[in-house]
Amino acid sequence: MSFPRHRPRRLRATPALRRLVAEHRLGPDDLVAPLFVREGIDEPQPIASLPGQVQHTRRSLRAEAAELAALGVPAVMLFGVPARKDPRGSEAWNPDGVLARALGDLRADLDDDMVLMSDLCLDEYTDHGHCGLLDSRGDVDNDATLELYGWVAATQAAAGAHVVAPSGMMDGQVGAIRAALDSAGFAGTAILAYSAKYATALYGPFRDAVDVRIADGGDRRTYQQDVANAREALAEIRADLDEGADMVMVKPAMAFLDVIARVRDAVDVPLAAYHVSGEYAMVCAAAQRGWLDLDAVAAEHVLAVKRAGADFVLTYFARHLAESMQ
Ligand code: PBG
Repeated sequence: MSFPRHRPRRLRATPALRRLVAEHRLGPDDLVAPLFVREGIDEPQPIASLPGQVQHTRRSLRAEAAELAALGVPAVMLFGVPARKDPRGSEAWNPDGVLARALGDLRADLDDDMVLMSDLCLDEYTDHGHCGLLDSRGDVDNDATLELYGWVAATQAAAGAHVVAPSGMMDGQVGAIRAALDSAGFAGTAILAYSAKYATALYGPFRDAVDVRIADGGDRRTYQQDVANAREALAEIRADLDEGADMVMVKPAMAFLDVIARVRDAVDVPLAAYHVSGEYAMVCAAAQRGWLDLDAVAAEHVLAVKRAGADFVLTYFARHLAESMQ
């Protein structure tokens, strides 16, 4: 009888040994909390498909951000839900619009103690729900959209964003936004590019959170990436870095761990991943039925995303996880 000489189980024998040899560990610093602020409401509105998440009032947003900061979460990603939507999404660059106001509130409350990131897109603001301007045929007009993104970027930076995060997947958006920020005097405002963002069914609950319905049963397949493609993500990432992105993102996370790992090998800038609404909702739904242990699966998901190579993770579990880490 021969016994194995290599015995990995030796190092799994006790919790302290397992802690000692863990290759990755989670802390509040790994987390970014996505938060929604809605105009024209007096009370926070629960989002049915995102259990535990709400559309905040300006007031409840301030309280939530302060609590996240106290829990050690270093950053939030803010989304605005305007009362009025129009074809161009003009509330997105209104300096008195809901997102600009909320950024001002949080900057006044927390200043530099929390990194304020703002999602930079038009879909929450357009009445047709697309991420850009439509041309006369109803197609998203890439280059006409870039100018508007520049206005949104300058508005968000002026309102207090430390980081703007373009998520519309227009070609050239990072370069256009960098130029707009620099010429408006915001050379210090960073860009976190949603570089490899896929056209996935996993954003369903998010669209409830921001009251977006894409007109005429449309979708985002002409601008977001095809789920079939991984190599293409590297081209998207390289283009964004060439145009001046400071950090890049892969989105969604769990279904794209291969993409995260490949991007990690290819770039040295900070890499984010977005554990999106559908990924969160699946875990919550199973946990509500008693089919999964929510705390354990939430931590496993975020750990898996880090193991794949992400430096930080945008997740609706941010607060819950940070609480469990205290
Ligand atoms: C676009 C945007 C989306 C998400 C973040 N930014 C939706 C989309 O592209 O349709 C999705 C986030 C999530 O599902 O949690 N502004």
